[in-house]
Amino acid sequence: MKEQTIETTEEFVQNQLGHDATGHDWYHVDRVRRNALLIFGEEQAGDPFIIEMAALLHDIPDEKLNESIEAGERKLDDFLQSLPIDDYEKNHIKQIITTISYKGGQASNLTSIEAKIVQDADRLDAIGAIGIARAFAYGGKKGQPIYDPGFKVRDNMSLEEYRNGKSSSIHHFYEKLLKLKDLLNTDPARKMAESRHDAMEKFLEQFYQEWNG
Ligand code: ADP
Ligand code: NI
Repeated sequence: MKEQTIETTEEFVQNQLGHDATGHDWYHVDRVRRNALLIFGEEQAGDPFIIEMAALLHDIPDEKLNESIEAGERKLDDFLQSLPIDDYEKNHIKQIITTISYKGGQASNLTSIEAKIVQDADRLDAIGAIGIARAFAYGGKKGQPIYDPGFKVRDNMSLEEYRNGKSSSIHHFYEKLLKLKDLLNTDPARKMAESRHDAMEKFLEQFYQEWNG
């Protein structure tokens, strides 16, 4: 029954996110799911079904991928309601998804180990080689430059500034990506983040070398 629910959820997410070009595609979701289960395997804490379901559904209500925040929430609610699982499980999955997003650095307190693990897995996919690729994909789709040395690096942005302020994809490394390794919740994720973080630093070093000629 749980296996069937996972399968139904995979199909739903593939249909919803299959063609996204902002870095929130099905393969992102699948990596987050696999890394979340990997962290679970090492931590041996939490409910793997809840972890897998929250990972699979974590980008469904994202306001960037929906007409409004409410429309995104409704999409997630309607889908959860259609599943043959306990209300307790539905609520827990929903609560994880609504609390893990980065949103410009505004911290929200995560109460469950499942939320911590899914958040770590999502953050791991924002750093390293994959993170570099996603940052430029997102930046291109949004129409922001690869780099503009004239822009300032912004600190402590509001959510509105984070989403819509003037920035470049290179700036995004300083505004978010390089900070993520210190914001992780679990030891296995911290370990996985090391080589990914190094890869971003090497990338930036090479980038400036080439930029400056
Ligand atoms: P979250 O949902 O955790 O706030 P986002 O959905 O904003 O994260 O980010 C999704 C992906 O797009 C991540 O890999 C992130 O680093 C990247 N991204 C988000 N904002 C920008 C930006 N302004 N420039 C470049 N990449 C971005
Ligand atoms: Ni995500």
